[in-house]
Amino acid sequence: MPFVSDVAIQEMQIEDYDEVYKLWSNTPGMGLSDADKKENIQKFLLRNKGLSYVCRHGDRIIGTVLCGHDGRRGHIYHVTVVEEYRGKGIGRRLVETSLEKLKSEGINKCHLVVFADNAVGNAFWASTGWDKRKDIFIYSKSI
Ligand SMILES: CC(C)(COP(=O)(O)OP(=O)(O)OC[C@H]1O[C@@H](n2cnc3c(N)ncnc32)[C@H](O)[C@@H]1OP(=O)(O)O)[C@@H](O)C(=O)NCCC(=O)NCCS
Repeated sequence: MPFVSDVAIQEMQIEDYDEVYKLWSNTPGMGLSDADKKENIQKFLLRNKGLSYVCRHGDRIIGTVLCGHDGRRGHIYHVTVVEEYRGKGIGRRLVETSLEKLKSEGINKCHLVVFADNAVGNAFWASTGWDKRKDIFIYSKSI
């Protein structure tokens, strides 16, 4: 297992898409949809410059975070770390990198959605300082 200092966190580029999508697809707990098609991710990255990151070890992508905001609140999606690299602080560093950038753009709150039955994901968010809301439901509509 490499040391964490051997890895680099870099802004996600659309050229990373194929490798990133493969990682998302191979990660249990990821909810993927039409919104994750290449053209939609390209639009997302353009609208939200400097907010989404990959973590590389050598030339392999081993972690991802997608982050955007609407001018009021931030939203984080698809935080993933390749299984053999987990537990080394990479997930935390990816999320902190996006949050720092949000803050620098004047956004002071961020939300995310996690499946209720994703035990690993829920443990991660709970132990990295996120509040699990008990007072709200998410409503969704396909249009
Ligand atoms: C969730 C995930 C991104 C965490 O990545 P990671 O690099 O292993 O996380 P970190 O090493 O930065 O862990 C940060 C904290 O989360 C907690 N944590 C991480 N994985 C955990 C686990 N399996 N069980 C309990 N706590 C866990 C740890 O307490 C850790 O804090 P500490 O090391 O100071 O004690 C990774 O497990 C993953 O890719 N899971 C599948 C995808 C997923 O569920 N994503 C989140 C839902 S959107």
